[in-house]
Amino acid sequence: MPSEGRNPILVAIDTQEVDRARNLSRSLAGAVGGIKLGLEFFNAHGPAGVAEVAGGRSDLFLDLKYHDIPNTVAGAVRAAIKLQPMILNVHAGGGPAMMRAALEAAEGESARLGVACPKIIAVTVLTSMDDSDLDAVGQRGPAVEQVVRLARLTQNCRLDGVVCSPREIKAIRAACGPDFTLVVPGIRPAGAAAGDQKRVMTPREAIDAGADWLVIGRPITGALDPAAAARGIGQDLA
Ligand code: C5P
Repeated sequence: MPSEGRNPILVAIDTQEVDRARNLSRSLAGAVGGIKLGLEFFNAHGPAGVAEVAGGRSDLFLDLKYHDIPNTVAGAVRAAIKLQPMILNVHAGGGPAMMRAALEAAEGESARLGVACPKIIAVTVLTSMDDSDLDAVGQRGPAVEQVVRLARLTQNCRLDGVVCSPREIKAIRAACGPDFTLVVPGIRPAGAAAGDQKRVMTPREAIDAGADWLVIGRPITGALDPAAAARGIGQDLA
């Protein structure tokens, strides 16, 4: 659970526009616990763009979901450490050797540069995949079983936690205990448009179920006053 007083909101800045990303990052300082930049922004503007938007902040979730052979993932992680993210992620499906290589690269490169080591977390099963999608890639059985299996593997590899959907929080908490970090998207304040998110929880429900961090995008970034929207969610959680 979030430590006392910490703002658990990570705002997802999903855009290709540097100015918009920079403005959101600046205007939301103090209203959120961190910012998330992912594949869309990174592929448009690369590490230099990330540094421009997040430079000087210590609360960046760099959501690039690495999945490759261990040597390549280790190299990608070492390169990413220069951006000093608070959280980095990989796909648990890359396997234990890949996850351990990511962790060792993060620890080694952080120590070499004298910067804080980010939390390394894993994506278990993409929430866009249902049981029939899993069946199509050779994975039999309910998605939640695979999610818990991969969460346990992630924990055995000494990684810090996983990204999970709201409906997976309780099963992973039960399997992995209180110290495993759960980063949860699919969050909608009461009354907000769900958009393309199908299974949503309110911020309060997700925190009560055991989430550590809430990834929230459009309910904040699409508001007329994003900082006011973020502060409103924060007040509901206080
Ligand atoms: O705008 P919204 O609140 O739906 O944004 C949620 C963010 O979390 C997006 O950046 C989306 O890519 C990400 N995400 C998600 N579901 C996952 C993993 C990541 O919605 N399972």
